[in-house]
Amino acid sequence: MPNQIISSRAAMTMGGTGVNDAMWVVQRSWRDYVEQMNTAGLLALSSSRASDQAQLARAGDALIVTCEGCHQQFKPSIPTEGYRKRH
Ligand code: HEC
Repeated sequence: MPNQIISSRAAMTMGGTGVNDAMWVVQRSWRDYVEQMNTAGLLALSSSRASDQAQLARAGDALIVTCEGCHQQFKPSIPTEGYRKRH
């Protein structure tokens, strides 16, 4: 999972085909959240490779803060585009 979070940075910085993507990616705070999420993902990856449980827990805490912060600002309602996506 850390790998997926880290590799999502490019897509989340450029935006995709979603109706709101163009509006989101130009905003400074959006980019900050993406960066913070990337940093936390990198920390999670390195701590799991080092088998450092305490640091992995800290990385997880930092990660959740970025998820919740960004969702609170940019995704207050579920679902965003009026339909639920299949995962
Ligand atoms: C930079 C902002 C941002 C960050 C950081 C972020 N998200 Fe999101 N997330 C969004 C937005 C915006 C959507 C809605 C996307 C859409 O509808 O196109 C979303 C959608 C989702 C959805 C799908 C919900 C649905 O309605 O189908 C899940 C699950 C989710 N995020 C989990 C996470 C998790 C877990 C993290 C942290 C590891 C995270 N997100 C970090 C902005 C963010």
